[in-house]
Amino acid sequence: MSESDNRFPPQKLEPIKVELGERSYFVHFDEDWREILASYSDRKIAIISDRNVASHHLLTWKNILPNAVDLVLPPGEKTKCSKNLEEIYNFLVAKNFSRDGMIIALGGGVIGDLAGFAAATFMRGMDFVLVPTSLLAMVDAAVGGKVGINLPLGKNLVGAFHQPKAVLVDFQHLNTLPVRDWLCGLGEMFKYALISGEIDFQHILSGIEKCKPCESWECARNIRKCIEIKAGIVSRDERETQGERIILNFGHTIGHALEAATEFHTFCHGEAVIAGMAGALFMAEQRRILPTDDFHRLLSTLSKFPFPTFKEMVTTQQLVDFIMHDKKVQRGRVRFVLLEAVGKVRVVQDISDDELSSAVTFALNFVAHR
Ligand SMILES: NC(=O)c1ccc[n+]([C@@H]2O[C@H](COP(=O)([O-])OP(=O)(O)OC[C@H]3O[C@@H](n4cnc5c(N)ncnc54)[C@H](O)[C@@H]3O)[C@@H](O)[C@H]2O)c1
Ligand SMILES: [Zn+2]
Repeated sequence: MSESDNRFPPQKLEPIKVELGERSYFVHFDEDWREILASYSDRKIAIISDRNVASHHLLTWKNILPNAVDLVLPPGEKTKCSKNLEEIYNFLVAKNFSRDGMIIALGGGVIGDLAGFAAATFMRGMDFVLVPTSLLAMVDAAVGGKVGINLPLGKNLVGAFHQPKAVLVDFQHLNTLPVRDWLCGLGEMFKYALISGEIDFQHILSGIEKCKPCESWECARNIRKCIEIKAGIVSRDERETQGERIILNFGHTIGHALEAATEFHTFCHGEAVIAGMAGALFMAEQRRILPTDDFHRLLSTLSKFPFPTFKEMVTTQQLVDFIMHDKKVQRGRVRFVLLEAVGKVRVVQDISDDELSSAVTFALNFVAHR
C-alpha cells in the first residue's frame, strides 16, 4: 500500500442507502455532503449542537449555511432530557420555524437522539439531517431513526421512530474527539464485530492500544462496514418487530441499567455497553451456549478497555430494578441477546431471576475490579 492510500480521509467511500421505501435515505461520506446541503439552501435551518462540538466545528457549518440559526446545549448524557427538549421547542418557536423548516443535528449520539426527537414531535414532525461527530454516533446512533430522551427512571424511555433525510459523515470531525469517546465508539464497534463476525478484531485492538482516533483507510472502511451492517438490519426490521433489530441491543440491557443507576454521569454510553457485553457473554457461557474458551478470549479483549474509577454503591438489585423498566421487557420477561459464536446470536426470553442477578453481578465486578 502506498503512502497516499493511508491518508485519512482516504479514497472516496460509496454512500450507503438505508432502504425504507419512501423514507429511504443515504449515508454520505467525505465531501459528498456539501452538494446535499446545497439542495437544502432554500430551507429554514436550525443547527443543534453541544458546546464541545460547537467550539470546534460550528463555524465551518455556519460558513456553509450562513442563514442557519443555531442552538448550543451543554455536552453529556444528562442533556438528553425533557428540559432540553423543551428548550429546542422554544427556540424553534422563537425563530418562527414551521414544519417545513429543518433541523441539522451536529454532534454525538446525545444531540442526534435529542434533536431528532424534537424534529419528530415539533408541529407533528419536521425534517432533520444527522451529522454524527463522534465515532459512536457514526457507527450506530446516526442510522435507524430511533430518537428520544432519557427519564430519571431509565434510558430512552420516551422516543419515536423518525428517520433522517440524510446522514452526513465527515471523518475530519474525529480529529477533535477526546480519547475516552474514541474508546466508547470502539466499544460499540466491538459489538458489531461480535454480532456480525464481519469486523476485524485486530483493528479494534490496535485502536485501543493507540488510544487515539486512527487515520487509516482500514479505519474508515470499518466505520463504513458498521454503518452498512446497521443499515441492512434497519431496512429489514425498522421498528424492531421482525426480531432482527433487537440484536443491535447486544450488551445494552445491562448497559442501559448501569447508565441509569449511576444517574448518567459515571459512565459514557459506550463504557456501560462494554460492561453490559461482559455480563451478556457470562450469561451465554453459564448457559453453555458460548464455549468457555471463546468466553475467556472475548472477555480478555473487553478487559483491555479502560474504565473510569467506579466508587458508587450500585447494587445488583438496583440494576435488576432498572432492567425491569427496560423497553425490552415483555409481559414481565426480559429479552436478552446472547452470543453463541462470533457472528451468531440467539435471543432468549426465559431468563431466571438468579441468572439475571449473576450476570449483573458479573458485569458490576468486571467494572469495579480492574
Ligand atoms: N439512536 C440510536 O439508535 C442510538 C444508538 C446508539 C447510541 N445512542 C445514544 O447515543 C448516545 C451516546 O453517543 P455518544 O457517545 O456520541 O455521546 P455524546 O453525544 O455525549 O458524545 C460524547 C462526547 O463527545 C463530545 N464530542 C462528540 N463529537 C465530538 C467531536 N467531533 N469533537 C469533540 N468532542 C466531540 C460530546 O460533546 C460529548 O462530550 C447515548 O445517549 C445513546 O443512548 C443512540
Ligand atoms: Zn449503544
